[in-house]
Order: sequence, then C-alpha cells, then structure tokens
Amino acid sequence: MTKTTNPNSDILLGNPHIRLRRLRQSVPIRALTQEHVLTKNDFIYPIFIAEEGNEPTPITGLPGISRIPFASLSKEIESILEVGIRSIMLFPVIDRAKKSACAQEAINPNGFMPRCIRHIKQHFPELLLFVDVALDPYTSHGHDGLTDALGDVLNDETVHMLCQQSLVLAQSGVDYVCPSDMMDGRIGAIRSHLDTHGHHKTGILAYSLKFSSGLYGPFREAVGSGSHALDKRTYQVNPANSREALHEVLLDVSEGADIIMIKPGLPYLDIVAKAREKILNPIAIYQVSGEYAMIKLAAQNKVIDEERVVYETLMSMKRAGADIIATYYAKWACQHLL
Ligand code: PBG
Repeated sequence: MTKTTNPNSDILLGNPHIRLRRLRQSVPIRALTQEHVLTKNDFIYPIFIAEEGNEPTPITGLPGISRIPFASLSKEIESILEVGIRSIMLFPVIDRAKKSACAQEAINPNGFMPRCIRHIKQHFPELLLFVDVALDPYTSHGHDGLTDALGDVLNDETVHMLCQQSLVLAQSGVDYVCPSDMMDGRIGAIRSHLDTHGHHKTGILAYSLKFSSGLYGPFREAVGSGSHALDKRTYQVNPANSREALHEVLLDVSEGADIIMIKPGLPYLDIVAKAREKILNPIAIYQVSGEYAMIKLAAQNKVIDEERVVYETLMSMKRAGADIIATYYAKWACQHLL
C-alpha cells in the first residue's frame, strides 16, 4: 500500500502496479483491445409484408417501420441491399377474410407467403431468406396453434400443420424455415418431413426459446394477431425459468436445428450466455418489437441518445454470445453506426 499523491491524505491506494486505465487512454489502444465487434454481417432484418395496398403503412408501435405492400417489396429490398444487409426475415400480414380457426391458409402452396418467396428468389437470388413457421398470422384467434373446443392449443395436430407449412415454404425456395411456435417435438418432425421430400438443404432456425413476454405487443399490432395480452403461457417459456429454457435449447439441437434463436434479447442475456457454453450451434437473438419500441420512443422523447443506446444494446447481445441479431434496427444501425 502506498499513500496517494496528496501528502496530507491518509487514503491508501490498492495496487498501483495494475492500472487498467492504461488500456483505455487513447483511441488506438481502445481499438486494439476491443473484445467484440458489430458488423453488417450480424443482422437479419425483419419485414412485414401486406398483400394489399400500394403504399407502406406505418405501424404505430414501431415508429420508423411500416407494413410493406407486395407492390413495394422490390423497392424495399433494394434499399436493404444498398445498406449492406444480406439476410431478411418475412412476416405476412394476412387479410382477416383469409384467417380461420384451422389456419388453412398457412399451408396453401399458392398463398401469399409462397408467392413472396418465389418473387424474391427470382429477383434477388443473393438475398438469404428466413421465414417464420407458425400459425398465428393465419388463425382467427391469434394463437400459434390449433385449439380444441375449450381453447387449449393442441400440440401434435399443430406440429402436423407446421410440417406441411415448412414443406410449402421449402418448395417455394426459402433458405431457412423458422419455427416460432414452441410446440413440443416440432424441430425433429419438420427436419424429417423436409428430408423425406428431398429438402436437405433447407435449414432450420429454431426459435428454441420464446419467453412468454410482454414485449411482443407492437408485432401483434403489425400482423394483426391479437393484443399484447393474448395469453400464450401454455407454450411460451416462463420468464422465471432458466433450466427449463436451456432444456428447450438442448432438445432443439438434438432434434436437428441448425441455428438456435432466443427471444426477446435484453432481458434474457443470461440465458444466451449459458446456452453459448452448452452448445456449438450458431445462436441468434431476436431484439423484439417491444425492445425496439422502448428505445425508439425514449429517443424520440429525447430521454436517451439513440445511437449510443442502440450500439450498446446490440453490442451487449454480441458480448453475451450471439452470432446473429434479428432486429428492426438493422437498417438504421447500418446507416448510423456501421
Ligand atoms: C409468433 C411470433 C411473434 C413474434 C415473432 N413470431 C409474436 C408472438 O409470439 O406473439 C414476435 C416478434 C416481435 O415482437 O418483434 N409466432
């Protein structure tokens, strides 16, 4: 222990031989010692596409993000490629009239989503395409599965539909199907069904871990799949559970998932860090609609500095162990941060 430089002080300094600030004192040394980086290669950009309309329609809960009508899809994709993003994730906004309790439209080979996929693959073959496998945009009640007379979500019957939906998407040319429904056994069933039909090359990005979160509200507004209060606790994971969460991840890996997705991001980074130690697959985080909205609305109210906070949250996801980030901020981040 030595005295501080002030001779009149009796305060003792811990160990002056180790001073971590030496590694922070200039721009180049900070750059040399930076442990993680954020690049344009990290992002998947989610897009809401609507069958009808000519102009993009803004989504109230997601300032800066719109539903893109099919007529403007090519223009939107060009703007994405221009900023350097090469992966997108599509979510359909399905007309009310086509929704039903049995979600039949989800497996229509000539439905809206198959048409979008064929269009994109024909005009933008270089773009990597991820599409959700789940029934919620197609069910009249907004649940991710078929329900019985009491309203309970039926597991095996739903998995049957998800397999058919995956095959339709694969036949249309999607690169990765993304089961986001949280039914038991669906990854293995989808993998077998795709393989049986010769689609070994179609990958599976499994939403292995979808927590039962209050942060999906703006998304549900965007696709019209129910309110943020819709109770999905019989299939989405309890936010209080981390062992069970890791169990879901390990099951999906063993059933053949290529990429594991965890969502939401920020409140669950501890789970991401634990999963990173347990599995070898790439891990993706979905920074969901409510997470985007919280930052955007605070920034619009000048409560926080948007550039710093977006950088910090996206970097926290890389640091926790994510290889991939699906975020509504992808385009903005490429324009403002990278
Ligand atoms: C549904 C699905 C949801 C999201 C992606 N796929 C919402 C839900 O579970 O209700 C949410 C994404 C977001 O909030 O940005 N299969």
